[in-house]
Amino acid sequence: MSAQKPVLILGGGLMGLAIAHQLARAGMAVLVLSRRRSEAAGFVAAGMLAPHAEGLSGDLLALGQASLERIPAWVAQIEADSGLHCGLRPCGIVVPFASAAERDAYPTAPWGEALDRQGLEREVPGIGPAWQAGLLFAQDGQIDNRRQLMRALERACVDLGVQFLEGSEVLALEQDSHGTLAAVRLRTAEGEEQRLPTGQAVLSCGAWSAQLLPQLPIRPVKGQMLSLQGPRRALGRVIFGPGTYLVPREDGLLVVGATSEPEAGFSEGLTPAGQRQLQAGLTALLPAAAQWPPMERWWGFRPCTPDEGPLLGEGPIPGLWLAAGHHRNGVLLAAITAELIAAALQSDAVNAAGPGPEHEIWLHSFRWTRFSPGSSQANGNPEPGLTC
Ligand code: GLY
Repeated sequence: MSAQKPVLILGGGLMGLAIAHQLARAGMAVLVLSRRRSEAAGFVAAGMLAPHAEGLSGDLLALGQASLERIPAWVAQIEADSGLHCGLRPCGIVVPFASAAERDAYPTAPWGEALDRQGLEREVPGIGPAWQAGLLFAQDGQIDNRRQLMRALERACVDLGVQFLEGSEVLALEQDSHGTLAAVRLRTAEGEEQRLPTGQAVLSCGAWSAQLLPQLPIRPVKGQMLSLQGPRRALGRVIFGPGTYLVPREDGLLVVGATSEPEAGFSEGLTPAGQRQLQAGLTALLPAAAQWPPMERWWGFRPCTPDEGPLLGEGPIPGLWLAAGHHRNGVLLAAITAELIAAALQSDAVNAAGPGPEHEIWLHSFRWTRFSPGSSQANGNPEPGLTC
């Protein structure tokens, strides 16, 4: 690492790594503080790249579309820096509906190709009988986040000189007499308390972000998942059904997601009800897959804000940047989040004029203060408090 004081990345999940990677590429010294790798949402998610299939709207749809456009180049950069594949599959996503009326009312219907039952059977051979219509979003896709992307990003970061403090828990943020970020206090994997002086840090602690800064409106929404081994190429497209989705990897592994349990808080573990829900959803979408052998079951915690959009940009403490609260869309939004936060930090470090106009618009739309009393809701997404 160079002699300059490193930027501290608080959280070694997908956001933290993606930002660390961009900063390191720009020649900045970076230290990632990571508590427990396995709990990072990047290892839990199914890896859908689905701004259209998820039916996003308003600024969140536009942010998702902008990130989707950047993903091929972003992935190519990670693959070049790491020498590892990320498992990007621009395979398209099919959203099935019980009726054509439901299909036509879907928020992103104008971006999709309308399918009747025959079209559905063509795109998804073996789809369950309950589905009479569908939308094909050929521009959406998936990436193998759990087995490939996270590993490649970690390798790219290490090869670019990013330093890691694994097993370290951030305890508190210290401010100087002007209120600016001065240091981070942490407990190391060995149980020692340490104080790391710093001028700049990025908070990317996912669902745990509000444990450090209680003013951030981020709550956990638990999701349970499972995977099955299917025949290779049994399913070409991702299927995004109501409450359940099926994500086929290149080698036939089928990832089945996901429950959405805001009431579960941080309660760990699988539940019979959650697993039954996934099994029922799987059977309704692709009956034959119910016979495929199960491989793994797991759970994780999505970081959810009141409008389900992320918190990006300057945080409540000068010197602290936010990249958190990506809810269902973390994998999709990692590319643009890394670009926005890395550019903002770089311009701050050299006292430049600030981010460019496009970046400024995004950072304004997703500022953390948008939920404060008196701030008009920037995003055309669900009403605050409806789902999390
Ligand atoms: N992106 C899908 C989910 O959060 O389950």
